[in-house]
This record gives sequence, C-alpha cells and structure tokens, in this order.
Amino acid sequence: MEASSEFSSRPRSTGEFLRRTVVYLKPYKAAAAGNMALAFLTIGFYYVFPYVTQYIIDDVIGCGRLESLLPAIVSLLGTFLLCELSNALRIIVNTHFGQNVIYDMRRDVYARMQRLPVSFFDRRFSGDLMTRVIDDVASVHRVLIDGVERIATTFLSVVVVFVILLLKNATLTMLALIPLAILTTGTLWYTLTAHRRYRKQREAIGAMNAYLMEGLQGIRQIKAFGRQGHEDERFRERAEGLRRTTLGVMKVWAAYSPAMTFAGSLGMVLVLWFGGPMVVKGTMTLGGLVGFIFYLTLFYQPIGRLDGLNQMLQSARAASDRVFDILDAADEQSTDGRDAELKTPVRGEVRFDGVSFAYNGNGRTLKDITLHARPGEMVALVGPTGSGKSTLVNLLPAFYEAASGRIFIDSQDIAKVSLGSLRSRISVVSQEAFLFNGTVRENILYGRLDATEDEMLTASRAANCHEFITSLPEGYDSRVGERGVKLSVGEKQRISIARALLKDAPILILDEATASVDTVTERLIQEALSRLMKNRTSFVIAHRLSTIRDADQILVMHRGEIAERGTHDDLIGLGGIYTRLSLLQDVNDRTE
Ligand SMILES: Nc1ncnc2c1ncn2[C@@H]1O[C@H](COP(=O)(O)OP(=O)(O)OP(=O)(O)O)[C@@H](O)[C@H]1O
Ligand SMILES: [Mg+2]
Repeated sequence: MEASSEFSSRPRSTGEFLRRTVVYLKPYKAAAAGNMALAFLTIGFYYVFPYVTQYIIDDVIGCGRLESLLPAIVSLLGTFLLCELSNALRIIVNTHFGQNVIYDMRRDVYARMQRLPVSFFDRRFSGDLMTRVIDDVASVHRVLIDGVERIATTFLSVVVVFVILLLKNATLTMLALIPLAILTTGTLWYTLTAHRRYRKQREAIGAMNAYLMEGLQGIRQIKAFGRQGHEDERFRERAEGLRRTTLGVMKVWAAYSPAMTFAGSLGMVLVLWFGGPMVVKGTMTLGGLVGFIFYLTLFYQPIGRLDGLNQMLQSARAASDRVFDILDAADEQSTDGRDAELKTPVRGEVRFDGVSFAYNGNGRTLKDITLHARPGEMVALVGPTGSGKSTLVNLLPAFYEAASGRIFIDSQDIAKVSLGSLRSRISVVSQEAFLFNGTVRENILYGRLDATEDEMLTASRAANCHEFITSLPEGYDSRVGERGVKLSVGEKQRISIARALLKDAPILILDEATASVDTVTERLIQEALSRLMKNRTSFVIAHRLSTIRDADQILVMHRGEIAERGTHDDLIGLGGIYTRLSLLQDVNDRTE
C-alpha cells in the first residue's frame, strides 16, 4: 500500500499495553467494582439452573412427585428473572463506566495532538489521525471494560465450575479436561500470531479514512479536473486494502473458532460415552449426568469466549499502539528547557544569528540567515517562490526549530522561552487564510477571546472588512462555513488580518496579506496596516514590491539565503535581483 509507513506505529508489548491502559480505569474504581460484582452475580444465578434441573429429573420426575414440580418450576423462573435483572443493571453500569473512560482517553489524545510540533503533522494524514481518536480509542476502551470483566468472570467461573464438577464426578471431570489441552494450545497459538494481522487491518482503516478526508476536502478540484473516475479507482485500492486485511483476519478466525468449539463438543461426547454406562450401572443418577453436562457447558463456554476476548485484545493492542504513538510523541513544549518567559513589555527587537534550517533534514531550506530588526521596524521579505520566505517567518513563533544558529527577541533566545509566552507576543496572518466553521464574530474574537465588541469592531474596521461584513445577510453573525468556504479569498484574508490585529501583539507577521485583493482594497489594507505596524516590529512577505517600498529594510531571499538587503533605494542602486524584479513589475503595472 502506498505510503504505508505513515500509518504504521511502534509495536508495544502486551505488558506495556496493560500497564498503560489500566491507568484509565483508576478514577472509576467504584464503577469497576460494581460492574464486576454484578457480573459475578449474574453468573452465580446461572449455576442454579443445572442444580434445579437435576433435582427435577431425579427427585420430582424420577420419584413421581408431581406436586413438587410447580414450586421447582417457579423457583427456576424466579432465578432466571433475577439473573437477567442483574444483567440489565450490569449493562447500565458497564456502559456508563465505559463511556467515561473513552471520554477521558479521547480528550487526552486530542489534547496531546494539539501540542505536537507542526512537523508531526507534515508527516501524518488528518484522516488517519481522526481514525486514531475515534475508532482506535473505542477499540482500546472495549477491551478495558468488557475485556477485564470477561477475564475476571471467566477465571472465577472456570475455577468454581471445576470444583463443582470434581465434587459431582471426578472421573468424568478428568475426561473433560482432555479437550482443555487442545483449547489452551489453540488459544496460545492464536494470541501469538494475531497481533500482526490486526495491526495491518488498523493501518488499512487509517489509510482509507485519510484518503476519504482528502477526497472530501478536494472535492472542487476533483470535479474541475473531471477526475471522479480516477478517484473511484484510488478509493477502490484503499477499500480493497481494508477488505483484504479484514478477510485475512476473518479467514484465520473462521478456521480457529469452529475448531475450538469442536474441541469443546469432544468433551461432551466423552462424558456421554463414559457417563452413560455409569447411569446404567447405577453409580450415577440420570439427573446427575444431565446436571453434569449442563455444568460442563458452563465450564467450556467461558473458555470458548476467551477466544473472542483474545480477538478483542489483539485488535485493541494494535489500536493502542496507534493511540500511544500520539500520547508518546514528544510535546513541542518539552524540547529542552523552555522554562523562561519573555520579559514584558516586549519591545520587539528581533535578531537571527546564523540560522540554518531544513525540513526533515533533507537539503538546506534556509542557509546562514542573519538579520536584525529594531523595535517597530518593518522588515520586508521578497524573492522568488520557494526561496524560503514563509519558512523563515515560521521559525519565529517556533513552528519549526532552527537546525543551527539562534533567534533572539529582545536579546532572549527564543529556544529557551515557553511557547505560550513566545506565541502570545506574535500575530500571524498566514499565507493561506484559515477560518474556523462558525460566525464571523467568533473568528475575529479567536484573536483575543475576551475582547469587547468595540475592540472587535475597531480591529475589523482597521482590517477594512467591517463594510463587507455588515453587508452580509446576518452581519457579524453570518456563518463562514467549513474553512471559510462561504467567503472569497480576499474576504477571508481580511478577517484573518482583523483577528491578528485584535491579538495586539508587539510582533506582526504578514505572509502575503495583500496577495489576494484587488488594487483598491490593497491600498486600503495597506493604509490600515501601516497605521497598525507603527510601534510593532513587522515582517511582511510580499510579491508586489509596491506594497513594501517604504520598509525599513528589504531582504531579498534567493534559494534559502539573503541575497541582497537594504532599503528600496539602496537595492535599486545595486542593480541586482531586486532591481530586475522591480523593473518587471513596473512594466506590468503600467500595462494593467
Ligand atoms: N512542510 C514542508 N515540508 C517540507 N518541505 C517544505 C515544507 N514547506 C515548504 N517546504 C519547502 O521549502 C522550500 C521553501 O518554502 P517556502 O514556503 O518557505 O517558500 P516561500 O518563499 O514562502 O515561497 P512562496 O513565495 O511561494 O510562498 C520550498 O522548496 C518548499 O518546497
Ligand atoms: Mg510562502
């Protein structure tokens, strides 16, 4: 399967799996105990049935005492009723308990996911990560709750029933143990080989979900390129992967499960074969033999169910590997000693000192970047596409960490500063404006949740989006749709500027903030921005050089290096890359 390594995870031992998952049960000791007690009670009631049956056959029917039949039947009925009542109660307790555990685990996984470094997500697929939060967590919880309950009840009932059987007839009990050896060997084999099969299946589910998610997000591209057929085919491959791995699991199960049941039946046959003559010879009563067989069913049944438990356990182990992959991944905050806070008030002086960086260690995306932005300065970054402008500004809020060199804000090394304090001082308007599904107001307030209505309106006016927002049918309460699909790119861009402005941070990063707006709007935004950039250190990335002419310094990036630097006038005088770009754009502007 394509890119399967992205879906795989580090296998962990069963011991580690148990140790770590049991932690989630700790807060619910009472529920766990109640659940277990009810499970035992339910089973206890079942044991009454063979006993009463034996009594009815030997002492009622056998002795012709029909008058005792009704009371015996009534007490049997009462036992069944109590049995199912306690079972109903068990289901209720079990479900509450289970949903609490699943809720805790899901929250943990999502909380951890949000604190992983950006680079983690570059290597993963959203759909696969979603599978982990939804399906895999549920699978782990199932084994925790049902599994633990089943293990406990199985062992208890096996021991109890074994003692009852021994007391009833030791010879027949020994015979009944023969199939047990087969059952145990089979279960052991299945356990040792199953993990691999289930992991493949889990990975296939992740791969299919990842594909599905991307397909839904790219639905417009699929249609525009008329690639439905092509997509059907690619989806078919993923679905086929899941079908194949599931069939692989089931094929083994289909051979294994009936074989185990057959081994159980073997015991039954042996007991009838040797028990029959005992009844005829009078060493055992007929009711005794029937009761023995009923108890024998209660003996094999939980062992047979252990296979099901085993299947559950194996599937959960595979799922838990994937869940713990996330829980174990290093939190971005945890990387060496980020315990300082940025000293307030932040003046906004930014220095890059010989900074190099590479994505995944392949090649060099940024080479030896040195720059110095004084407080309140506007630093413009220009240069061809792919030259590393966005990468450079992404290092400042520590979305990625520099491979070498250091970055300082107000002479404090940002690698030593807590991410919370660092990021709260930087406003970012990224290249692709992203809005959350909600109202316009909610999206702007995302910049500062406790801002007043007036502050929000001021930011919105400054970003020049107030007018178009009020012309929307529901104004600030209009919903923007998933990722903001209901708005134009320029509108989204301006809302994300308002959001960044509301944050009111001393350092501002604008990655092509004016790229997707017309010239008139661009000028309006430009005005608003220059007003707002006052007293803030700002990094502005722009392709249109006209927007950054007044910058205090312009850095011309070329293949990950700063090729030229200076003011507009300096650079024009230099006659290098900047001059050429500038001349080309002047020509374009004139012919526009
Ligand atoms: N997440 C990533 N993983 C790996 N490589 C990346 C990643 N993001 C960018 N790159 C690569 O790093 C280089 C610099 O990209 P960057 O986005 O910084 O360019 P840019 O100057 O902002 O370009 P543009 O003007 O088109 O926005 C490119 O070669 C790009 O392919
Ligand atoms: Mg870019």
